[in-house]
Amino acid sequence: MRRARRRFLGACAALAALPHARAALREVRLEAGPARLGVVGAPHPDTDVWTYNGAFPGSEIRLRQGDRLRVRLANGLPQETTIHWHGIRLPNAMDGVPHLTQKPVPPGGEFLYEFELPDAGTFWYHPHASSAEQLGRGLVGALIVEERTPPAFDRDVVWVLSDLRLDREARITPDFNAPFDASHAGRLGNTVLVNGRVPELFALDAGERVRLRLINAANARIFRLNFEGHAPQVIALDGHPVAAHLVSGGLRLGPGMRADLLLEAAGEPGRRYTVTDDFFARGAYRLLELAYTDKRAPARMLPAPQLPANPLAEPDLARAERLKLVLGGGAMRPRQPQGMWSINGLSPRGGSHARHEPMFRLKRGRSYVFEVMNDTAWHHPFHLHGVAFRSLGEPHQPWRDTALVDPGARAEFAFVADNPGDWMIHCHILEHQEAGMMGVMRIE
Ligand code: C2O
Ligand code: CU
Repeated sequence: MRRARRRFLGACAALAALPHARAALREVRLEAGPARLGVVGAPHPDTDVWTYNGAFPGSEIRLRQGDRLRVRLANGLPQETTIHWHGIRLPNAMDGVPHLTQKPVPPGGEFLYEFELPDAGTFWYHPHASSAEQLGRGLVGALIVEERTPPAFDRDVVWVLSDLRLDREARITPDFNAPFDASHAGRLGNTVLVNGRVPELFALDAGERVRLRLINAANARIFRLNFEGHAPQVIALDGHPVAAHLVSGGLRLGPGMRADLLLEAAGEPGRRYTVTDDFFARGAYRLLELAYTDKRAPARMLPAPQLPANPLAEPDLARAERLKLVLGGGAMRPRQPQGMWSINGLSPRGGSHARHEPMFRLKRGRSYVFEVMNDTAWHHPFHLHGVAFRSLGEPHQPWRDTALVDPGARAEFAFVADNPGDWMIHCHILEHQEAGMMGVMRIE
């Protein structure tokens, strides 16, 4: 009896050692709906925004790698919506693309999302219905998946970068998908925000080691950030770890993209240092100031932490099938046969994704290289749903789900088609997406 009991306990201990056994279920309710919040700050009036749970950005969801997330979405908006979990490798039915993976959620309706989090990293969530308007009114939120054994930082900080287009009364202007914006750089806001506010200061203690998670949740704005007096190191891109390396020539982040930085507070107590964004050379501006307190953390010379790799299948480049994607259209190019923007000459339009036939059919388990050619005069942060890919043309060949392809440039995305279903592929400048730069790949 006693022995049997001991054996039973032994079995339990063995089970507990399996990673699954620790998987926890996290339940969250997200209500999409309007709210009125101070975005610009006094003396300007508050702004009517669309929020999750009354917050802009929406409530941060933070859990552990391997956990299961169950989200009840309640739609309190005056139009249909869905939630897409950007960068999460999940079952197709949970991907949140209206008409393609689920019925859109009508006003007053609900939808239950449930999936596991296979990868640690910095992710985010947003609607995939009428994206230009719904994100342009504020529907974005951070989804942070912590490592099973989180590396040591003094602080873990998220900056959701976005912008709004406001009038003089701090009201969001309703000019979504205007043809001029859609055919040029997208709908740039005139008010840049960090975590939903016009930022001023970010307080630091000298000597602190901060994990700074940057998420570009803007409709169209590309950032190139410079940290005066600091030498931040990139430790992850789009959630996935990369060999730690210094930011050189500014950190570029297109819409949809993320970067995790190790920011060592090497400045002097009491001093201020500016963080600037100079992506649009003529419009360079100060994003905020790093404001040092009078404190100094004890000096420690630690190497940049190497984050544990995510469980991604390595593509077989020698045997991979290569597929071409030519991005076309936009201002300064001859008129498109079909729409304003295109992939391989095709321009499915609109914010609802109804009746989108697959542009590519991929065999499950095979390796593919997408050869992306940007045959336009504009930048395109190109995004694949359902998979992460190695961005072969970049230093360190990072894993990404969204890569910025410059005008006239080529890029190569290598991945294993290991997640079955119909997945969106699109430019994450939302006005480009809705004006035709999108398609569907079917993994079967
Ligand atoms: Cu961040 Cu198709 O989306
Ligand atoms: Cu684009």
